[in-house]
Amino acid sequence: MSATATSEALKDSIRNIGVLGTGQMGAAAAVMFQRAGFHVKLWNRSEEKLHASKTALQAVDDFLTRHLGPSHSKGELLLEPDLGIVDATSDALLECVAEEMAQKTELLRRLHGSRERGALIMSCTSALSITEMARGSGLEQVLVGAHFWNPPHLIPVVEIVAGADTPPRQVERATALMQQAGKLPVHCADVPGFIGNRLMHAMWREALAMVDAGVCSAEAIDQVVKWSFALRLPALGPMENMDLVGLSLVESVQRYLLPDLAANTIPAKALTTRLNNGDTGMKSGRGFYDWSMRDAAAVVALRDQQIVRQLEFLREQGVFPSTIKPST
Ligand SMILES: NC(=O)c1ccc[n+]([C@@H]2O[C@H](COP(=O)([O-])OP(=O)(O)OC[C@H]3O[C@@H](n4cnc5c(N)ncnc54)[C@H](O)[C@@H]3O)[C@@H](O)[C@H]2O)c1
Repeated sequence: MSATATSEALKDSIRNIGVLGTGQMGAAAAVMFQRAGFHVKLWNRSEEKLHASKTALQAVDDFLTRHLGPSHSKGELLLEPDLGIVDATSDALLECVAEEMAQKTELLRRLHGSRERGALIMSCTSALSITEMARGSGLEQVLVGAHFWNPPHLIPVVEIVAGADTPPRQVERATALMQQAGKLPVHCADVPGFIGNRLMHAMWREALAMVDAGVCSAEAIDQVVKWSFALRLPALGPMENMDLVGLSLVESVQRYLLPDLAANTIPAKALTTRLNNGDTGMKSGRGFYDWSMRDAAAVVALRDQQIVRQLEFLREQGVFPSTIKPST
């Protein structure tokens, strides 16, 4: 069988997708899969929360309709309170529950039918070990990490993570599924934080250290990032940028700078003091900013609209191979 035929066969084997958890990631991922033509069953352990998720599902669908056009998908999206039914009827499952190893393994252990059938089971974890999760839940032969980025219906990349025991076929199936859903799968080793969160937290560690040291304000950090290097990132990734700058310059700057950069292995005071005061960020009304004075919904809407515009532009320029597709 040719590589294309294998990929087609893998795609055809998945029609029914179970999504576990109806929070930020689960609800939007469910809509994304449904609009890509899959039959989706969305589950929450609380029937009340499951039904309450209708508002979020509608909001995501409305946004995509407004910005990408109406869905002509033949896929359906059902709310299913019975985990046994989701387990028995899914070709692929994506868990999107709390970022706690014990809670994830406890839930995954219950997917007996999927494990027996060799269904594709995926975890949306941002940072937890896929090897540990698979071993803790008896899913060594089926579990694959599928780290979506928020908002999952817009951000193209999904980091595909194989655990130490994951068979290559499961990784191929996850890769084919993401391509079919219009995503850009990127393979990554099973290291804490995978690729993206390692990079992002390296930057956040430095940002927090500068606030702790009084180098600058939190606002100054956002201004510098948003209005300098962030603007060129979609066109030029960090590795490309190093080539552009010239590697000898990168080396000489690093020789001078690296000893001065943050290397703390525990969270900075700028974070812990705020948390001790109950200032957890946007949800509580205060974090680094006073959100009671800002329109949080408008900020999120701006984020999502600029992602859509940016992807459209990059696709028009032919520099992005396959991006969010209007529904099939
Ligand atoms: N929010 C992000 O930016 C983001 C990005 C990428 C990946 N993730 C990952 O996705 C997963 C979900 O994150 P989220 O932001 O959607 O969280 P969330 O808090 O918005 O939603 C979590 C969902 O899981 C359910 N839940 C919680 N504990 C459970 C349990 N023990 N059993 C069954 N259901 C349970 C909750 O009812 C809720 O529906 C996490 O692993 C997270 O690390 C989050």
